[in-house]
Amino acid sequence: MNCATEKTLTVHKDGMPIYDIVYGTNPEALGDLLKDRGFGGRRFCVVTDSNVGPLYAEAVVRACDGIGSGKTILVTLPAGEENKNLDHISDIYRCLIEEKYDRRSCLIALGGGVVGDMTGYAAATYLRGVSFIQVPTTLLSQADSSIGGKTGVDFEGYKNMVGAFYMPGMVFANVDYLGSLDERQFIGGFAEVIKHGIIRDKAYYEFLVQNRELILGRDTETLTQMLYVSNRIKKEVVEADPYEKKERMLLNFGHTIGHAVEKYLDFGMTHGECVAAGCCAAAYISVLKGFLTQNEYEAVRDDIASFGLPVRVSGIDPDKILKLTASDKKASGGRPRFVLLKSIGEAFVEENVSDDEILKGILSIAG
Ligand SMILES: NC(=O)c1ccc[n+]([C@@H]2O[C@H](COP(=O)([O-])OP(=O)(O)OC[C@H]3O[C@@H](n4cnc5c(N)ncnc54)[C@H](O)[C@@H]3O)[C@@H](O)[C@H]2O)c1
Ligand SMILES: [Zn+2]
Repeated sequence: MNCATEKTLTVHKDGMPIYDIVYGTNPEALGDLLKDRGFGGRRFCVVTDSNVGPLYAEAVVRACDGIGSGKTILVTLPAGEENKNLDHISDIYRCLIEEKYDRRSCLIALGGGVVGDMTGYAAATYLRGVSFIQVPTTLLSQADSSIGGKTGVDFEGYKNMVGAFYMPGMVFANVDYLGSLDERQFIGGFAEVIKHGIIRDKAYYEFLVQNRELILGRDTETLTQMLYVSNRIKKEVVEADPYEKKERMLLNFGHTIGHAVEKYLDFGMTHGECVAAGCCAAAYISVLKGFLTQNEYEAVRDDIASFGLPVRVSGIDPDKILKLTASDKKASGGRPRFVLLKSIGEAFVEENVSDDEILKGILSIAG
């Protein structure tokens, strides 16, 4: 295989190339791609979950065995956000210790955002840091969570409370993996995809709306094109602000209320579904504050709905959601920082959003 023909996007830090996102649909290519990037001769450990493992782990383990030293082990975690916790990180450490993995080991995260965040955190902390590779298998993880280096786990119901910034050595994005994703998980991924357009790139937002049928029909070429732009937008934001001091906060658009809803419903809705509703609430608050027009807000809400995402959430207590926004970890001095919109394609961070405005935003999605 000639790796030069693979489409790639390179993520930089301080102007230096750090890792490539490689787009391709040939799982057999993974070994060569890793070897080309200096991972030959490593001892690999593939971490996956109970849904993804039976579908895709065999080919990935084979690719690692082909270029690695020693036998690749496979760690299969139980699937689901409810398992994104320190207990299961301990399971990964235990396997690595039992099998005597050393500092030259390399973990491969094969799965959605849950497996990616957990494997990344295990890699960041095992022996003070070993390499890891992202092989994302959900739309959300391919479009968003596998790049940017945020890793971590939930703690006692609080989302992503424990974690580390830790960059992968490579991301292998294979849209064919999306073929086995159930409709709800597939649709959920669009919340982050549309978010990328809303916060930074109106032309991309319009591309998504115009190509909705092809995208929802899982057309390989259109999906790859879409992922590439989403990844480019995220990469540019992350490169400008790797540790989320300022600009990277824009990626939290829709997440302040979205995370509060996610916690309130005890993860009864997917992350993407909660973020979709959270984006509508944040757009509504942007209108209240006089930044966004009513027409733009309605376009955002209706376009999000047209992808099959929820723009309303039933069974929530708005006062309790309000309280939960104050415990969002991105809050400053107990007040949540809100990402609002000046227009579609232009987001900014606003610290001055009153409880009354937040409550109105929550009420706009309740019911
Ligand atoms: N690190 C970041 O920057 C970042 C950004 C956004 C979200 N996240 C995190 O990502 C997580 C959500 O990720 P997710 O939506 O991928 O959820 P997920 O990892 O739970 O995957 C969703 C479900 O789909 C299954 N699955 C995965 N790939 C499949 C495939 N190809 N075929 C069939 N089934 C498959 C999984 O087993 C799971 O049941 C959240 O924990 C969120 O906090 C992290
Ligand atoms: Zn998110």
